[in-house]
Amino acid sequence: MNNTDQQLENLKKENGKLLELAVLNSTVLDQLSALIKRILACEKIGDILEISITYIQNLSRDSSCLLLLEENGKITVSNRSPGLTGFDINNLLAGSSLLSRLLAEKKETVTVVSEEDAENLLGSGLKINRIICFPLAIPYTIKYFGSLLIFNMPAENIEIYLYFIRIIAQIIITAINNHRVTESLAQSLKSLQEYQSRLLQEEKMATIGQLAAGIAHEINNPIAFIKSNLISLEKYSKMFISLIKEYENVVTYARKTLEGGNPLLFLERLKIIENLRKEDDIDWLFEDIKPLLNDSIEGTVRIKEIVENLKNFSHVDTGKISMVNLNQNIQSTLRIIYNELKYKADLKEEYGELPLLACHAQQLSQVFLNVFTNAIQSIESKGEISIKTRCTGTDINIIISDTGCGIPHDIQSRIFEPFFTTKPVGKGTGLGLHICYTIIKEHKGTISVQSEPGKGSAFTVVLPLDNGLSAG
Ligand SMILES: Nc1ncnc2c1ncn2[C@@H]1O[C@H](COP(=O)(O)OP(=O)(O)OP(=O)(O)O)[C@@H](O)[C@H]1O
Ligand SMILES: [Mg+2]
Repeated sequence: MNNTDQQLENLKKENGKLLELAVLNSTVLDQLSALIKRILACEKIGDILEISITYIQNLSRDSSCLLLLEENGKITVSNRSPGLTGFDINNLLAGSSLLSRLLAEKKETVTVVSEEDAENLLGSGLKINRIICFPLAIPYTIKYFGSLLIFNMPAENIEIYLYFIRIIAQIIITAINNHRVTESLAQSLKSLQEYQSRLLQEEKMATIGQLAAGIAHEINNPIAFIKSNLISLEKYSKMFISLIKEYENVVTYARKTLEGGNPLLFLERLKIIENLRKEDDIDWLFEDIKPLLNDSIEGTVRIKEIVENLKNFSHVDTGKISMVNLNQNIQSTLRIIYNELKYKADLKEEYGELPLLACHAQQLSQVFLNVFTNAIQSIESKGEISIKTRCTGTDINIIISDTGCGIPHDIQSRIFEPFFTTKPVGKGTGLGLHICYTIIKEHKGTISVQSEPGKGSAFTVVLPLDNGLSAG
């Protein structure tokens, strides 16, 4: 028994009349099975609807069909047979109480159109004598997507045609439902992504909040010595100004002497200058000016750097990918946190030569900052934090280790979970490492931990050079 015979046999069991159809038109089933195959291959809902409409139209060439879909409570035309182009559905519905009623009933109906109704329908440009209406709804639910209207299907064998149309209507319902479910899943995914990026930003801001005191201190230090240098320089400049004035006197008396004046007066002025130079130790002042100015300039550069780093860091991630030397990225992150770190730990740095990596630079700074922050927090009084980078040829490896409290073996597998924290309420959100994990995963890399309670922990980040990201 071939495929078609089998299907006929099955259908016959469900509806004896189908045999009549098979005799009447043995190609209908073949067409239907071809249609189902084509529909299964469709990716777009629009294609499914179009194929279905064409198929129904082909069942009886005298008929035409129209698919109306409900969108936000409003009915719109989704697809129609070629014979139905060029008329306005709103006119049609407004001009025909019959059609409005059929749609509102949401029931499968075959209606022979009365003369009066036919007249009304004619007003919108359509000559209609029979209407079949199929509500597109999921059985046993109130989910109604719209209706399928078939005009002028011949009365002969209508039961059999209805059987096929019912199957097509089911396919359309499934397609619309799948489409809507996919849409709502995509929407949920988008909301989740937005939520995650908000969390990322909030966490970043919280970290900055924690760092603020340290950063204020870091900026205060250079400001304090720049201020004291400026006070010294102001004092020096006053001394220089009086010295210059005395030199002007010397020049005046030199000129007078040349014009025949008393040379003793000129010598007297010279004596005053010599005394002034000795009194104010002008030679020493000259020597002191250079380091005072150098230190102050260095201090302003440091402040500028701190502010720049902070600005880079707090900037909302634009999603921009750039080519980055991770050694520099780590160093600039370290500068932000250095003030906190230096009281807790000696820092050991061992940077290998690294190629540029295409990455979200700010996000990776966030990863390093979170891991460094954890390392600092893990050290009770004083310890050591070390950073080591290297390139294996295919990956960049970054190892950040500390001599802190370590992580108990039974919770090591949980530390990357969102909201997992062992810190007291208000101290940690438990998001730090989860965010690191998410960011590293986006870069196709891995982050792992090796830890011995009481001895310390080492976090290893492996970032493949070939991560599919490209700088733009
Ligand atoms: N270097 C480390 N040494 C010891 N324990 C660590 C270390 N890093 C992480 N942990 C453990 O992992 C847990 C989770 O870390 P995570 O950074 O995700 O959150 P948190 O530091 O508790 O809070 P948050 O980072 O949100 O302020 C920490 O509470 C801590 O128990
Ligand atoms: Mg943390």
